[in-house]
Amino acid sequence: MRLRNKSAVVTGAGSGIGRAIAELFAREGAAVVVADLNEAGGQATVDAVRQAGGRAVFVRTDVSKEPECRAAVEAAAREFGGLNIVVNNAAAFIYGNVEQTTYEQWHKVWDVNVVGQAQMVKVALPELRKAGGGAVVNIASQSSFIAQPNYVPYNSSKAGVLQLTRCLAMDLAKENIRVNAVAPGTIRTPAVDDCIHKIGMTLEEGYKRFGEDAVLKRLGEPMEIAYAVLFLASDEASYVTGANLVVDGGATID
Ligand SMILES: NC(=O)c1ccc[n+]([C@@H]2O[C@H](COP(=O)([O-])OP(=O)(O)OC[C@H]3O[C@@H](n4cnc5c(N)ncnc54)[C@H](O)[C@@H]3O)[C@@H](O)[C@H]2O)c1
Repeated sequence: MRLRNKSAVVTGAGSGIGRAIAELFAREGAAVVVADLNEAGGQATVDAVRQAGGRAVFVRTDVSKEPECRAAVEAAAREFGGLNIVVNNAAAFIYGNVEQTTYEQWHKVWDVNVVGQAQMVKVALPELRKAGGGAVVNIASQSSFIAQPNYVPYNSSKAGVLQLTRCLAMDLAKENIRVNAVAPGTIRTPAVDDCIHKIGMTLEEGYKRFGEDAVLKRLGEPMEIAYAVLFLASDEASYVTGANLVVDGGATID
C-alpha cells in the first residue's frame, strides 16, 4: 500500500492510461477523484475501483476550464479530507501540419495539454500546502522530444509539458511539492486505436506497425505507464523532482 492515506486527482481517468492510474492508485490505498469530460467513461472507472474495494468519485471536469478544475480539487477535500497528488493526464489529440491546423485547434491543444495542467496545479496548491506538500505527475509523451510527420500541434504542446514540469518543480520545491513527468511511447488505448483507424489500418496492422518502433517490439499497456506514475507519486521518489521518466519500450533510444 504505497499510497495509504493519500488522496489524488487524476484527470482524463475515464479511459486508457488515466483509468489504469486511477485503478492502480486505489489498489495502493489512495482515494481517487476521477476528473474527466466523459461522464460514462469516468463513472465506469469509479465503478471498477469500487468493485475492487477502493475509493473513488467522479467529477465531470474540462481541464481547460479553471472553475471545473477547482471543483475536482474541492471534491477531494470534501470527500477525502484533503489532496496529496495531482496527475495531469487528460489531453486533446489534435494532429496535422501547420497549414491544416486552424487557430482554434492551436488554442484547444495548448489550453488542454499545457494550460490545463498548469491551472490544475494552481487550484490544487492550497490543498497541497495544507497537506504539507505533495506530488504532481504530468503526462508528457515521446512526442515531447521527437518530430513526427503531421503532428505539429500535439507534439509542440507535449514539448510544453516538459518545460512546464521543470519550471513548476523549481518554483514549488520550497513548498515540498515534487513535480515530474512521464513520457509514454505508443500505448494500447482508445486514443491510439482512433489514430490507427484514421490512417486506414486495422488494429492488428496498427499494433504491429507501431510495435516495430519500440526495441521491445510491441505496444505498451496502460498499466505499464501507471506503475511509473505510481513511483513518482509515492514517497519512494522523495528525491526525484523535475524529471521526465520515459516509458516507451526503447522507441526513442536511437
Ligand atoms: N496512448 C498513447 O500511445 C500515448 C502516448 C504518449 C502519451 N500519451 C498521453 O497519455 C495521456 C492519456 O492518453 P490515452 O491514450 O489514455 O487517451 P484516451 O483517449 O484513452 O483517454 C484520454 C481521456 O482524457 C479525457 N479528456 C480529453 N479532454 C479532456 C479535457 N479537456 N478535460 C478532461 N478530460 C479530458 C477523455 O475524455 C478521455 O477519457 C495523454 O496525456 C496522452 O497525450 C498517450
